[in-house]
Amino acid sequence: MRALIIGASGQVGGALASLCVRRKIEVYGTSRKGQGFLNLDLGVPSSITAAFDKARPDLVLLCSAMTHVDNCERDPELARRINAEGPALAAEECRKGGAKLVYFSTEYVFDGAAGPYSEEDAPAPVSVYGRTKLEGERAVLALKGGLALRTTVVYSYNPASKNFVMQLISSRRSGARLRVPYDQYSNPTYAPDLAAAALDLAEKGASGVYNVVGPDWLSRWEFALKACAAFGFEPDFLDRVPTSELGQAAARPLKAGLKTDKLEAALGRRLPPVDGSLRKIAVLLKQYE
Ligand SMILES: NC(=O)c1ccc[n+]([C@@H]2O[C@H](COP(=O)([O-])OP(=O)(O)OC[C@H]3O[C@@H](n4cnc5c(N)ncnc54)[C@H](OP(=O)(O)O)[C@@H]3O)[C@@H](O)[C@H]2O)c1
Repeated sequence: MRALIIGASGQVGGALASLCVRRKIEVYGTSRKGQGFLNLDLGVPSSITAAFDKARPDLVLLCSAMTHVDNCERDPELARRINAEGPALAAEECRKGGAKLVYFSTEYVFDGAAGPYSEEDAPAPVSVYGRTKLEGERAVLALKGGLALRTTVVYSYNPASKNFVMQLISSRRSGARLRVPYDQYSNPTYAPDLAAAALDLAEKGASGVYNVVGPDWLSRWEFALKACAAFGFEPDFLDRVPTSELGQAAARPLKAGLKTDKLEAALGRRLPPVDGSLRKIAVLLKQYE
């Protein structure tokens, strides 16, 4: 088995790369920055073809995206090129080479009026990010055997990442205040658990849409308090605010989150609870402090 991780420099791609190595899967990873990765820019079609020609993968894990939700709102053309057209080109390369394609999608395909959502609920994105990711998802699902994994609030101990837990840790360290919305609900998802479920689903030959998220449905504020408790932080550097006070360019789905019955039926397990994953991060924090 030879895997190509598109976006191996990111949080999810990095977790997948480590897991592939542990599972003895031959792996190629891409980034736009070189540094030992194959060069691939989803906005540059020739770079997609070149990376596929080099890697000749059996399995493609498509993690790359324009993930900055507010930047997508400010530049919808670029967002569409990276999040929708790039994945469609990757799907075409998979069709030509007979590779299995796994695409990382998002709960932002929903409007957040009545979450948590199942795979059967009708998408209704409220942002450019959500709309363009949904387009990318549809391009992947048009490919035979295409697998789209919807996830949300992915976190891990990764100093290179701006995930919510790393933002919280860096605010605490620098003494900066962190505004945390109390009205955004979703399921925090630990990146190594997401990676394991993704590879397990791919190995089982799953196709279509699967929700892959942690089991705890929490507001961002509740998640922040749990993280502080796990890390031994006084939460006095946090400000509890409504989303409307954050002044963000893109609308957020508020009552979002995803149900995982389909995942449980396929793998015979749910992802582990948030408290245990935060304790693992607390151990790493102590180790690297
Ligand atoms: N993080 C979350 O909470 C979350 C929630 C829901 C869904 N997702 C989805 O999960 C996937 C992985 O997220 P993540 O947390 O790992 O994101 P991340 O840490 O922000 O990583 C993004 C990756 O995309 C790559 N990238 C950005 N622009 C690119 C372009 N034009 N062409 C090629 N690669 C590009 C980056 O690589 P270089 O900059 O090195 O080129 C990086 O590897 C994304 O598809 C995202 O939509 C994430």
